Amino acid sequence: MPQIPLVDVKAQYAPLLDELKERIAAVLDSGRFILGPNVHAFEEEAAAYLGAGHAIGVANGTDALVIALDALDIGPGDEVICPAFTFYATAESIARRGAKPVFADIDARTMNLDPEDVRARVTERTKAIIPVHLFGRPAALGQLAGLGIPIVEDAAQAFGAQGAGKTGVVSTYSFFPTKNLFALGDAGLVTTRDEELAERIRLLRFHGSKAKKDFELVGYNSRLDELQAAPLRLFLPHVEEWNRLRREAAARYAELGLGEVCELPEDEPGHVYHVYVVRSPERDRIREHLVASGIASSAYYQTPLHRQPALRPFGQAEAEFPETERAARENLALPLWAGIGADVQERVVSAVREAVSLEAVR
Ligand SMILES: Cc1ncc(COP(=O)(O)O)c(C=O)c1O
Repeated sequence: MPQIPLVDVKAQYAPLLDELKERIAAVLDSGRFILGPNVHAFEEEAAAYLGAGHAIGVANGTDALVIALDALDIGPGDEVICPAFTFYATAESIARRGAKPVFADIDARTMNLDPEDVRARVTERTKAIIPVHLFGRPAALGQLAGLGIPIVEDAAQAFGAQGAGKTGVVSTYSFFPTKNLFALGDAGLVTTRDEELAERIRLLRFHGSKAKKDFELVGYNSRLDELQAAPLRLFLPHVEEWNRLRREAAARYAELGLGEVCELPEDEPGHVYHVYVVRSPERDRIREHLVASGIASSAYYQTPLHRQPALRPFGQAEAEFPETERAARENLALPLWAGIGADVQERVVSAVREAVSLEAVR
């Protein structure tokens, strides 16, 4: 076990532990576990916080995407554009609906969808675009919206990011335990301002039925449950402060001079640093040295989506996505969470410096 983890989830909820146990105990006392008062209250509170109109709790962020695409009637014969550099679930949801994921390259500076490359890949079959607010940084929604194609925002990594969740016809979130707002297991959310769409999503998450009597649609069994909604309600009022602390920690890495030895993520006000990802052509050697120093790190999406075995049949395995490939080789996530100590960050920066100077004398 590394001495410094990549994310310390327990440190985030430690100050809330007593209340957390009380809320879980209250659910146990109530005997209600499915679509009960915590789920309904969380949906209202999350919709109000996000300024989203409607929020529908589902079982996880992957189902949130599948159900959003289903609600938009996306299926066989349709194409949906998404980044080649993102978590597998983004493209998997498109394929799960029987539609074709069409990959586009990313912008070198932001690692988010490159709107120009998206434009080049639009065909008459393109039914939606799924921008991902990768690593917590809002995607170029203004430019993408200009293409006039419905946008489904994959905001799994960007809960509370200014500028996320406001442009798409639908937005989706994951509350996987390492996310900015997190549950104690799997959980997810779909938001939309469109009331009709919200109603369809509500039906879809519960077998296409309002009251388990008439089944109007072929749906899913994908509900947020009370045992997850209760902690989510407790954590929601803290997410703003947690995101502020993440931004503060990101700024501290820059102040500590990390930028002298690797390329730092460029800051912008909406960035909520779901993960803190730097870049270096020496990424793998730096990682080796971090392991030896007891510091956890990660290198995301090393095999980009167009080359993933399950997605090869969609025909872009040989296509070129130069910025995706470069990001796959160079990205390096360093420890960051809400409340990470300055001393911990100093150790991380010294270890990266050491790795780079060791390399220089080789
Ligand atoms: C960009 C992105 N989309 C979708 C998902 C899927 O979310 P979940 O793991 O809750 O199914 C994740 C997360 O894990 C993600 O990072």
